[in-house]
Amino acid sequence: MHLLVLFHILQSLLLAAHSCPSLCSCHDGKSGIAELRLVQCSDPGITAVPISVPADTVKLRLEKTPISKVSRAAFYNLSELRFLWLTYNSITLIHPSSFVNLKALRELRLDGNLLTSFPWEGLRDMPRLQTLGLHNNRLSSLPAHAALFLPNITYLDLSSNRLTILPAELLDLWFPLPGQSEGQVERRILGLHDNPWLCDCQISMLMSLSMTLGSTVVLMDQLLMCSKSLSQSELLQTQAELSRCMRPSVQPAATRVISPMGSNVILRCDATGYPTPTLTWIKTSTYTNCCQQDNLDNSEQLPRILESFMQESPRVGVRWSIISLNGLSYKDAGEYRCQARNMAGISEALIKLKVMGITKLPHLPKKSRKISSKSPSKYRKPYQMSAITNVPSVKDNQILSSITPFSSNQAKKPQSLVTFLEHVRKY
Ligand SMILES: *[C@@H]1O[C@H](CO)[C@@H](O)[C@H](O)[C@H]1NC(C)=O
Ligand SMILES: *[C@@H]1O[C@H](CO)[C@@H](O)[C@H](O)[C@H]1NC(C)=O
Repeated sequence: MHLLVLFHILQSLLLAAHSCPSLCSCHDGKSGIAELRLVQCSDPGITAVPISVPADTVKLRLEKTPISKVSRAAFYNLSELRFLWLTYNSITLIHPSSFVNLKALRELRLDGNLLTSFPWEGLRDMPRLQTLGLHNNRLSSLPAHAALFLPNITYLDLSSNRLTILPAELLDLWFPLPGQSEGQVERRILGLHDNPWLCDCQISMLMSLSMTLGSTVVLMDQLLMCSKSLSQSELLQTQAELSRCMRPSVQPAATRVISPMGSNVILRCDATGYPTPTLTWIKTSTYTNCCQQDNLDNSEQLPRILESFMQESPRVGVRWSIISLNGLSYKDAGEYRCQARNMAGISEALIKLKVMGITKLPHLPKKSRKISSKSPSKYRKPYQMSAITNVPSVKDNQILSSITPFSSNQAKKPQSLVTFLEHVRKY
């Protein structure tokens, strides 16, 4: 008798674990030796995400139903799910916490719904996601913060939406600087076509960068149309907007700096460009032929990105940045690159720093000045003190007061981007 009760309990537990939600069909597929549970629901009678989907489901297809919203933790029990297709429903709203616990999900497809926005931060709950399909929705904007949650996505389909502007942050993510990408850059497939894009700097750069040889980004359809049918006057307008694109130009304050051991050095770099460039400092080499080899720390990994001590953009199109090296040692000697980047391109300047030994600290200025005064024009540009050596004790306000502010008469006139524009116009 007891055994019979136990048997019934066990049986109902098993049934509960493997029961199929009503109006859905459940199958066991096989992949190698593993059994894969597939659940498919596409009945017009389904009005909400079913709650009794078996916990070991690997693929869930919920398609062509009148479901209009996905609520918080809707798939909480499905931690083994790898494919979630919610295509061709009537979804207008997705709660930002809809996807919690989808630890194994690789593929999320939401094509053919009525989404006007997508909760990008929700991607945090799906760390293994690679494929995100949002084709054929009503998305009208891509926020800049989406770039924070998209680094692992290698297939992103945003085609057939209402997007007009691509944030610069996404371009930075998809086309990283050579020194900034960690390890191998993943190949990405992007669907951006069939959106009313404004043909601005970003779109032009995206098209030309994705067509360059060896680009890691592949567009599903390379033809990105501009929002308006181009009448003559609109064509001129587009060109005017494009002509604002300006490749960065970098002016380091000095290209060679010599400073005694133990002293403090500030390296400064100014850049212009439109859109306002971002600046990165990279140390690319040390001097290995230095007489004081014992003092060299060869464990340093190069190239290395340095954190800038200060960075500011006093106005649109202009940015400056400084790094501060305190108590110079031989391992600080080497080549520093100041790299400016915007959608129109990259440019960089090289600064060589030499560290002189011999003298002891408080008397060092005499000897070091002698050295640098021998060939001042070679080591320092006369008009601007961008490398300030021998700052005895560095405090923020001292540095601030000793930095020459970037003024417009010092700035070189921005280069025109004739060659770039000609390049872009081809497309
Ligand atoms: C998850 O499972 C529990 C217990 O079986 C159930 O009560 C709950 O409704 C399920 N939640 C979802 C979202 O399916
Ligand atoms: C990207 O993948 C890594 C490694 O799997 C993971 O730790 C990280 O959380 C993922 N990032 C996002 C935004 O999903």
